Amino acid sequence: MRKTVIAGNWKMNMTPADTKAFFEEISPLISGRKSCGVVFCVPFVDIPAAIKGAKGTGAKIGAQNVHFKENGAYTGEISAKMLVECGVEYVIIGHSERRQYFGETDETVNLRTRAALAAGLKVILCLGEQLDARQKGITNEIVSMQTKLDLEGVTEEELKNVIIAYEPVWAIGTGLTATPEQADETCGVIRATVASLYGKKAARDLTIQYGGSMNEKNAAELLAKENVDGGLIGGASLKPAAFAAIVAAANKKA
Ligand code: PGA
Repeated sequence: MRKTVIAGNWKMNMTPADTKAFFEEISPLISGRKSCGVVFCVPFVDIPAAIKGAKGTGAKIGAQNVHFKENGAYTGEISAKMLVECGVEYVIIGHSERRQYFGETDETVNLRTRAALAAGLKVILCLGEQLDARQKGITNEIVSMQTKLDLEGVTEEELKNVIIAYEPVWAIGTGLTATPEQADETCGVIRATVASLYGKKAARDLTIQYGGSMNEKNAAELLAKENVDGGLIGGASLKPAAFAAIVAAANKKA
């Protein structure tokens, strides 16, 4: 059976000192017996403090981006090998803010995904439609195309290390949330696309998260849906009590 995974995306928030204080507060709230996976995707410079802070909680640490080359003249970029050596296990790739502000395309998302998987990282691959696509009724076509392009060349074995995060762009950081029905339907479209590429079993085993203004109030309802196997949480992941409440809701599902 596929795993329920709650991942926090801190974006460009928190210093190493903030990270230390955050884990002191959240550790008792998320430690102990839990059935869902928990991941914190933090800024690069916070990684050592996050790894130290998360010790004993069972939570894993992720980065928010990775370059596709092993090394070289790519000022400002980070390689998969560098992340692995620091103890990072996950990486977010293709977040809509990277696509919108930093020129990420499905082609570069695919290159990064393949490089990260080849280096042994687990990938949280983000995709989702813009508001005008939802309004035009072409959401299914958009997410299906993104799924195909972003996973091109990824083997069935490598797919076991991929989580897809369905994040409608209009719901990210806006306070607007997809209804549980919308989230379930679109995650279902992604799963059907994966089934067409890799077969039914691979699709059934794939964790598909919902992301976009998920919080402690709406998490249980979203997670109750069959095709929603977790969440990628932005704003609410910065508040220990709110994030712990989402983890608790996911434990009930898992
Ligand atoms: P949000 O962000 O929860 O603040 O909407 C989600 C995300 O960007 O992953």
